[in-house]
Amino acid sequence: MAVMNEASRPVAQEPSRAPVSLLVDCDTGIDDALALVYLCSQPHVELAAVTATPGNVGVDQVARNTLAVLELCGRGDVPVAVGARAPLRVPLVTSPETHGPQGIGHAELPPPRRAPEPRDAVGLWVELARARPGELTALLTAPLTNFALALRAEPRLPELLAGVVIMGGAYNHQGNTTPTAEWNTHVDPHAAAEVFAAYAGQPPGRLPVVCALEVTERIEMRPEHVAALAEAARCAGPELVLPDQAEGTRSRASSPLVRHVSDMLRFYFEFHRRYDQGYIAHVHDYFAASVAAGTARYAARAAAVHVETEARRLVGTTVADFRGLWGEPPSARIVSENHPEEAFAELVSAVGALARRLG
Ligand code: RIB
Ligand code: CA
Repeated sequence: MAVMNEASRPVAQEPSRAPVSLLVDCDTGIDDALALVYLCSQPHVELAAVTATPGNVGVDQVARNTLAVLELCGRGDVPVAVGARAPLRVPLVTSPETHGPQGIGHAELPPPRRAPEPRDAVGLWVELARARPGELTALLTAPLTNFALALRAEPRLPELLAGVVIMGGAYNHQGNTTPTAEWNTHVDPHAAAEVFAAYAGQPPGRLPVVCALEVTERIEMRPEHVAALAEAARCAGPELVLPDQAEGTRSRASSPLVRHVSDMLRFYFEFHRRYDQGYIAHVHDYFAASVAAGTARYAARAAAVHVETEARRLVGTTVADFRGLWGEPPSARIVSENHPEEAFAELVSAVGALARRLG
């Protein structure tokens, strides 16, 4: 029997509105879009750049969705760049059944007026991190391909970044892509393995804060949250997204932002129902964005993380050693406690206010 070391203890984090500058990498899909909308609603959050990784949809569609969502929120100023076009080693698998063929559910966003930056996302990450040492927090809500490539290009990233928040993995929790693997780590398991290896042994305050399925599936959006959002936006009438309505029914909300968010989420509700999870939507990336923005209350525990890349049935599976049984230093701080009702109160209030500002 291995020596049972003392398990790492949860460290609590209280909410804050202190200024935050983010580098975001996403695979804009529905919950990535909601995360971006939320971040645009936060005056204390600077979006230094948003970069695209293939995942939910192909990378060009990710970039188009990201540009369109930012413009919808009045943020056509934020640079968007494309990086990797496929995972490091395995073929790209996308998930049109989860996020829709275009990745944003039933929403039909106005085509973006801008194109992505001509420069590569990875070079942009490295340049900004070197130019602003200690200032930028990384938020990763996609497979970790671009982040792994950035760490290869600049191994000092853990020292140069102010912090890292990752949506990814499932620790002692059922996977959502295979019985044991979560989508982001399954799409690019080698990138995830490289990222955690790069952070192993870093000082605790620099370790990535990891929002995994055991806590992100608690952020379960329901139709009443969409109704509350429309009310907070002072829409002309109630926003009813109901399970007995025809699939694909389009919103007629008076606020364009609420209308498009409602059309995205309806698709997500229909997907979760189709897979016996109820007429709900796990908005994983919104929770990770609230952690990165500093507005979430949570607790996290240090652990050494392993990402399986070889065993065929277990590829992408993440395992956390909270007790030091492997004799390896921690490589992550895994969120172990969050507060869904607070998260939704924050989302409705913040995005409702943004919708009012946008008109
Ligand atoms: O497993 C959930 C994650 O996979 C989220 O980031 C979602 O957008 C998908 O990318
Ligand atoms: Ca995502």
